[in-house]
Amino acid sequence: MNDAARQATARAHANIALAKYWGKVDARLNIPAVPSISLTLDCLTTETEVRFDPDLRQDQIWIDGKRLTDEDATRASACLDLVRRTARLKDRARVRSHNDFPTAAGLASSASGFAALVTAAAGAADLPHKPKQLSAWARRISASAARSLYGGFAELPAGERGQASLCARSVAAADHWPVRLVIALTAEGRKTVGSTEGMERSRKTSPFHAEWVAKAPKWAREVKAGIKSRDLSKVGAAMEASTLAFHSIALTANPPIVYWKPATLAALATVHELRATGVPVWATMDAGPHVKALCEPSHAARVQRALDKTPGVLRTLVAKPGPGAELIG
Ligand code: DP6
Repeated sequence: MNDAARQATARAHANIALAKYWGKVDARLNIPAVPSISLTLDCLTTETEVRFDPDLRQDQIWIDGKRLTDEDATRASACLDLVRRTARLKDRARVRSHNDFPTAAGLASSASGFAALVTAAAGAADLPHKPKQLSAWARRISASAARSLYGGFAELPAGERGQASLCARSVAAADHWPVRLVIALTAEGRKTVGSTEGMERSRKTSPFHAEWVAKAPKWAREVKAGIKSRDLSKVGAAMEASTLAFHSIALTANPPIVYWKPATLAALATVHELRATGVPVWATMDAGPHVKALCEPSHAARVQRALDKTPGVLRTLVAKPGPGAELIG
């Protein structure tokens, strides 16, 4: 392999789950206990360059100019190992990654991050671009990342113990349905409890975890059917139910996990008030304090104005359905 073939750059976007993943059946292989359905966005972008270098003694991972250490570096190296094993490659890698949004603040940076990393690493190792394979590798490291391999609407089924090949698949392409997601940022900085830790604690200690695992597939089915038929109220109702149920098992974990800030509830109230006045808009929240509001393009400006005026909302942005992970160099 020549030098040029050992380097590649990829771009991937965050995805926001419309039906949430929260909980694993197999922590070692990172297999979700519930199905999830997501929208890949056109913004919140990660660009990652991977260069395999025989002179390196260990992987060097940089995000936005900062060298990763500890657990974050171990996770990225584990992702590179999956690619190296298949490519029969021993070289360590220098990875430079850039997010155009804050890392680990509940804006799905791990999803775009690992989708971009796995795509760039496979490209640098000269492996063919096979989205299913890349999605399964990304899922091993961070399950939501498996969905960012696909543009538009994607689903990651629930899996079974030992199902190493479990991967996401497309539900509908980005141009199937031009919905808008208005994102209201309510805090700066990193979230207090990471998703991996949060969902394990919820599984072990929330008295409602089994109920969540039993009910989540129904919300995923409704979200999927609503996407297929472009039925916003169907998607919206199931999305809000899925969000509030997942937060309720985080809230009832021991010790409790409270991702919400006062501004989160204020933004949720804004969405509910808009809906009461006839604007079809629904809210979702991830493992962080931000609120994302799903609506039709014709209502996006009104929803954005209302969220901008909500006390505690720092800023807003409007996202559209976007493309899957791709090699760009
Ligand atoms: C609330 O994919 O970050 O965003 O697989 O442990 O890395 P790990 O978890 P992660 O969890 C995402 C949780 C969520 C919901 C979702 O994206 O489906």
